[in-house]
Amino acid sequence: KYEKLWLAGALLLIVGFIATVSYGAVGAGVEMIDNDGGQVDPDSLDQHPKFGEPGTYASEDGDYDVYVVAQQFAFVPGTEEPVRVPANSEVTFHVTSRDVIHGYEIVGTNANTMAIPGQVATMTVEFNEAGEYGLLCNEYCGSAHHAMEGKIVVV
Ligand code: CUA
Repeated sequence: KYEKLWLAGALLLIVGFIATVSYGAVGAGVEMIDNDGGQVDPDSLDQHPKFGEPGTYASEDGDYDVYVVAQQFAFVPGTEEPVRVPANSEVTFHVTSRDVIHGYEIVGTNANTMAIPGQVATMTVEFNEAGEYGLLCNEYCGSAHHAMEGKIVVV
């Protein structure tokens, strides 16, 4: 009869695990919808139509695209100027790096990707409420890695 008890315990663990995962997916009011990628020449980012002028762009279908260049030791935009996006829209981040591999993590959420030179990481998120979100580099990228951070302002 102990088998049944053991089974119930295992089931409880599984349910708990699924609940944790679901909670993480909507943590802090951010919903991650998609994760995809592309390519870009890291040596001519300044000539790129979007990465040449990184920031938030409104798209034709009413959504938003944010182009972010990560570099030692800042996100552009994000570190000196916050990323600004509206709440309750689909926001697709396009993240690349100018130099070495960086991380791009929206603190307290599961929105997290790598910034790799030559590659464009994209992730679509929806911010369900206005507020401020921290940005963090979570890949070791050099002496000031620990200080590489930024901010997203959702209005
Ligand atoms: Cu950039 Cu660590």
